[in-house]
Amino acid sequence: MRVLVVGGGGREHALCWAIAASPLCDKLYCAPGNPGIAESAECVAISADDLAGIVNFAVSNKIDFVVVGPEGPLVAGLVDRLAAAGIKAFGPSASAARIEGSKGFMKDLLTKNNIPTAWYGRFTDVKAAKTYVRQKGAPIVVKADGLAAGKGVVLCKTVLEAEAAIDSMMTAKAFGSAGQEIVVEEFLEGEEVSYFALVDGTSVLAFGTAQDHKAVGDGDTGPNTGGMGAYSPAPIVDTALDERIMGEIIHPTVRSMTAARAPFKGVLFAGLMVCKDGPKVIEFNARFGDPECQALMLRLKSDLLPALIATADEQLANFNVRWKDETSIVVVMAAKGYPGAYQKGTVIGGLDAAAKIDGAKVFHAGTKAEVKNGETVITAYGGRVLGVAATAKTVHAAQSIAYQAVDKIIWPEGFCRRDIGWRAVAREKSNG
Ligand code: AMP
Ligand code: GLY
Repeated sequence: MRVLVVGGGGREHALCWAIAASPLCDKLYCAPGNPGIAESAECVAISADDLAGIVNFAVSNKIDFVVVGPEGPLVAGLVDRLAAAGIKAFGPSASAARIEGSKGFMKDLLTKNNIPTAWYGRFTDVKAAKTYVRQKGAPIVVKADGLAAGKGVVLCKTVLEAEAAIDSMMTAKAFGSAGQEIVVEEFLEGEEVSYFALVDGTSVLAFGTAQDHKAVGDGDTGPNTGGMGAYSPAPIVDTALDERIMGEIIHPTVRSMTAARAPFKGVLFAGLMVCKDGPKVIEFNARFGDPECQALMLRLKSDLLPALIATADEQLANFNVRWKDETSIVVVMAAKGYPGAYQKGTVIGGLDAAAKIDGAKVFHAGTKAEVKNGETVITAYGGRVLGVAATAKTVHAAQSIAYQAVDKIIWPEGFCRRDIGWRAVAREKSNG
């Protein structure tokens, strides 16, 4: 079969790497891809947001199946447009992708259906939002309603900070139109978990857990990013918690989406806070997490492609997948300055040496292949540039392999956190 993956980040590199290994895949394309992806797929220079370009390419190249990686094209309706052109795709319709695309829609859906989440208010008016914040007090959380690449969330320790966040989103428009409406919500305390489930509209298949490090600095300090590293599985999710997450959150959400005439098909990614009184939804995403997807793909033992096709074909009811009995970890290397402004075009060396470390795998995100002084080199042009991943029997071992690989990479203009997986390593140590 002829497959097209849409996107060009670390998540799409991991997806292409897994799909290319499938005996069902005869030809793999990726739009736009990146130099790492080019090792598994033929990259075509079409942006993930060029919906018409992607549909045209899929039609004229007789693509049998499209896998959409990022949220942007999902929210914009790529899967609907492909369906209209008769092309099967993995990912939700625009209507179902609102679960990620609009925090207000998601919060209303959850609350109406008694699915545990933080209390909240939706606002389009600065004064009303500030009055609510003063009534509720701090700590409190201020979020832009629309998509903001994981950065439209401000955790406020004081009422003053919350008022400033409201001003920045609504008056100064720091996140453009995504901040025209905001959500102000309860600050949840606990341990965070990324929970993944394939959903075919009705049936659900648990598809792994992970924990992500959102903050830019060691010790989970500094501003939030799209994710500086992750590991899978999440040790906090034991059988009992898994059952609660499925029973109290995932299944009711899937049923509520169908009742809201927006049946969800694709991967439902629940960002959860495990609080003292149980798991609560922080957010839903309509796609795989990045970097979580890199960690998941390394652990998946079964062929990925049939699972994605079964999701699109509404055939998940009796479907199952197997996972390796191992832990994987991914350390993100980003350009210095990220999540703020950073330099582009800097040269990255040592990638081959890193790939040679036993158990390690380097996924590309914001990289380019460029000719400099007559030689092709890999350069950095994004914020998050590489995902240096490893798999091993323990988190500690996986962590040590990943950092051995990181240390082979020669990129003075880049940085990474040195403590990815700290919580899981500590848990492992205390369990002996
Ligand atoms: P979101 O984009 O909604 O996932 O938020 C980004 C990050 O902010 C989450 O991964 C959490 O670490 C944190 N966060 C968001 N909402 C809350 C909340 N209500 N309470 C505590 N932390 C939160
Ligand atoms: N790493 C979090 C996300 O993909 O949203």
